[in-house]
Amino acid sequence: MSVESRSPVTTTRPIAEPPLVAGGAPLLGHAWNLVRDPLGFLAQLRDHGDLVRIRLGPKTAYAVTAPDLAGALLKSPEYIVGGPLWDTLEVLLGKGVATSNGQLHRRQRRMMQPAFRPERIADYAKVMEEEARATAARWLPGEAVDVSAEMFRTAVRIVSRSLLEVDSIGEKADRIADSLHTVFEGLYRRMVLSVGPLYKVPTPANRRFERALADLHALVDEIVAERRGSAAAATEKDDLLAGLLTARDETGAPLTDAEIHDHVVSLVVAGAENVASTLAWTFHLLTRHPEQERRLVEEVKDVAGDRPITFGDLGRLPHTRNVVTEAMRIRPAAWIFTRRSVAETELGGYRIPANADIVYSVYAMQRDPRSFERHLEFDPDRWTPERAGDVPEFAMMPFSVGNRKCPGDHFSLAELTIILGTVVPLWRLTRVAETDSDTKVGITLHPKRLVLRADPR
Ligand code: HEM
Repeated sequence: MSVESRSPVTTTRPIAEPPLVAGGAPLLGHAWNLVRDPLGFLAQLRDHGDLVRIRLGPKTAYAVTAPDLAGALLKSPEYIVGGPLWDTLEVLLGKGVATSNGQLHRRQRRMMQPAFRPERIADYAKVMEEEARATAARWLPGEAVDVSAEMFRTAVRIVSRSLLEVDSIGEKADRIADSLHTVFEGLYRRMVLSVGPLYKVPTPANRRFERALADLHALVDEIVAERRGSAAAATEKDDLLAGLLTARDETGAPLTDAEIHDHVVSLVVAGAENVASTLAWTFHLLTRHPEQERRLVEEVKDVAGDRPITFGDLGRLPHTRNVVTEAMRIRPAAWIFTRRSVAETELGGYRIPANADIVYSVYAMQRDPRSFERHLEFDPDRWTPERAGDVPEFAMMPFSVGNRKCPGDHFSLAELTIILGTVVPLWRLTRVAETDSDTKVGITLHPKRLVLRADPR
């Protein structure tokens, strides 16, 4: 069926179930393929249809492979965030904005909105500039830098300092980064293989995970308590935490401590790993594409000379921005999403039963040769105004669309551009033997081990 001509949600009676993908292991079905080679498996599903059925153990799940159907799925009120991945997240991280649905979700989004207004980004950018310069200043000439770890720490510091300002935030952000790193590693395993008893066994890895998760929750409590303790700060400041502390619901009641806690955890979790993984991929891609790196350095020098770049420069760095966008296309950090149907419905002319789990992969869609010419080529110029219009609607959506669209999209684009525009003109980064840039599949996709040698330019 032609992608352009289809009306994604039909109004006529659905005629059939989506085609069932053949193969799969006895009992496990396609779950085995999904665990063994998730990226390859999800990418080849497009050869079976725009919407297909797969078997995950005893359950049937649905996979959307065409951009227009993914757009329809994300924009329709007939689907909520749900599915096994999210259920585990909620148990471990609480009912924050990323896992809630319905009225609670709408309320949480409304309260969060002021902190992400475009005019606020200029304030956060000061923190981004400071942190980017501090990161670049920490490296030594000739040093082998663990770029993945450095970017993770920088991203956690930026999101914590921007949204949760308290006096001790610098020191707490470093502790959050340590806990969060361990939490992320264990979280993915628990999301994919949610066999509760397995994780109760007191192995060193399970103990490390439990400790890190407890530390993360305790740190968030400490931050909220510190801010509550400072009455002036709670009202004078205008950040996300102030919004949460002063928010009132329809009945005039404030948020409970548990609600504030879950909300903050959600944001720190959502705001750190995606940014860090995107940066790691971008640095990796630039080591492979020296011409793009040269153009980026020249652009920054033309705009800022020898001074560090600032938020005010961002509008004049189109190539740097295109490098970021293309890195997000070909190496998206957030790669798999699920939704659950609230009632029986239809998508693309097929029947979807109630409570069905529907999956789609941004990674597969953003590398689909039907949507992108030379789809595996890193080509930042495909985002120039002359060419960007060639990309089909919903084929590129690293921040998603609809009511769950990432509220941190402008924040992230400013952050990514400032960090790249600060670090790359100062340091020439080259691969060393320890680098393993194969993809590590986790909650985000990132290079397995990105160690780069830093030499001053
Ligand atoms: C490169 C960086 C980032 C990427 C690629 C990214 C991507 C995404 C995507 C795709 C979603 C939607 C998930 C879905 O449809 O189920 C999302 C949700 C979310 N993101 Fe981001 N994100 C990034 C950075 C950030 C930052 C910096 C923040 C906060 C400071 C943030 C906060 C959130 C929150 C709170 C949600 C949940 C929204 C909801 O469910 O209503 N993200 N993000």
